Amino acid sequence: MEALSPQKKEPSFFNVFYNSVNMKRVPIFGTSSIRPLKINYLRMNKQLCVLVSLSFAFNFAVSAQLLSGVFAKKYPIGAAVNSFMLKDSSIDSLLRLHFSSLTPDNEMKPEVTEPQEGAFHWKGADAIVAFAQKNHFKVRGHCLVWHQQTPAWFFLEHGKEASKKVLFQHMKEHIFAEMGRYKRKVYAWDVVNEAVSDTGKSIYRTESPWYQIAGKEYIAQAFRYAHKADPKAILFYNDYNVFMPEKRMKVYTMLKELLKEGVPVQGIGIQGHWSLYQPTEKELRETLRLFASLGLKIQITEMDVSLYHWEKNERTMRTGEQIVWNDSIAKVQADRYAMFFHVFNEFPKVISGVTFWGVADNRTWLDHYPIEGRKNYPLLFDTLYREKPAFHAVIESQR
Ligand code: GLA
Repeated sequence: MEALSPQKKEPSFFNVFYNSVNMKRVPIFGTSSIRPLKINYLRMNKQLCVLVSLSFAFNFAVSAQLLSGVFAKKYPIGAAVNSFMLKDSSIDSLLRLHFSSLTPDNEMKPEVTEPQEGAFHWKGADAIVAFAQKNHFKVRGHCLVWHQQTPAWFFLEHGKEASKKVLFQHMKEHIFAEMGRYKRKVYAWDVVNEAVSDTGKSIYRTESPWYQIAGKEYIAQAFRYAHKADPKAILFYNDYNVFMPEKRMKVYTMLKELLKEGVPVQGIGIQGHWSLYQPTEKELRETLRLFASLGLKIQITEMDVSLYHWEKNERTMRTGEQIVWNDSIAKVQADRYAMFFHVFNEFPKVISGVTFWGVADNRTWLDHYPIEGRKNYPLLFDTLYREKPAFHAVIESQR
């Protein structure tokens, strides 16, 4: 039987697959009878069974090494992408091998989709949604109402600060346009992003232009519009550092109040921009327990594990600050990933998705934030798209 050659029909897939077995060209799919298997088959139970049976028959362990296979019966495993990344054949292959959900990292944000009132730009978002449909991925929409990456016109009326009424009109039209376009194609939305303050007494981020014009009411209003626009979509509040006790209580209080008022918020997106240092196992468990007690779905929406302590403010790099990636750091990071996923396992009925904020370490926002040019290595695949120890730790955590 002819071994598949990387130059043949699906070169990028096999290149990545070979990469993923440490560059050894092991002909894992060494029989043409297996050739018609496409990656998305792994998400369909029947085909998964076929693949697993074949893997036993031919003595190769395929499904055990694929994120999408390991998590198939649990929850979607996602990656944040942009439409340009989808043109990279290695990314395309990694996505189709390992992931089952996509989130546009920027191309569904208001500054991209509606830079001027009523002038919509859907090209990037459309490309991601089309890729998802073609390959049977779910899509998480991100995000509709945020104080960042939202053009100024939202907050203006004839050149002056908009009234609450006009602001809500802008919000409504934007939400209806975007959610309407992707109805039944986007299953979940981050409706409101980061409305809670990190520090201080106020629950809310008072410097947000949304808050300045409308007070906290904008949050409930956004969920109501979103629910009207697509009653079937699952609606999330999404935020970072919610494991920190102070912020966690604020988010909890806000969500509890929204639920009491009958606002259609159905889930909390925990951003998962974590590090080798935070959160602790206890903090994470307590956070999940607390939000689970509200009866909300929980998704880890923006997972990456930085090598550095978290910092909010941007600054320049100090001498000697750049960490050089090595095996022992890789191991520490893998242990962190293992711990996080073991804690997720304790909440099988509550956690309904995990999304990584990126695919591989060659492209991560953490190379630019909070310090421009400080290389970071926060994801499961390395700069050459190979599986890192963190990847294997995540796989192992599901056995
Ligand atoms: C936040 C936002 C995301 C993205 C990341 C950084 O977490 O929710 O949309 O901007 O920061 O890439």
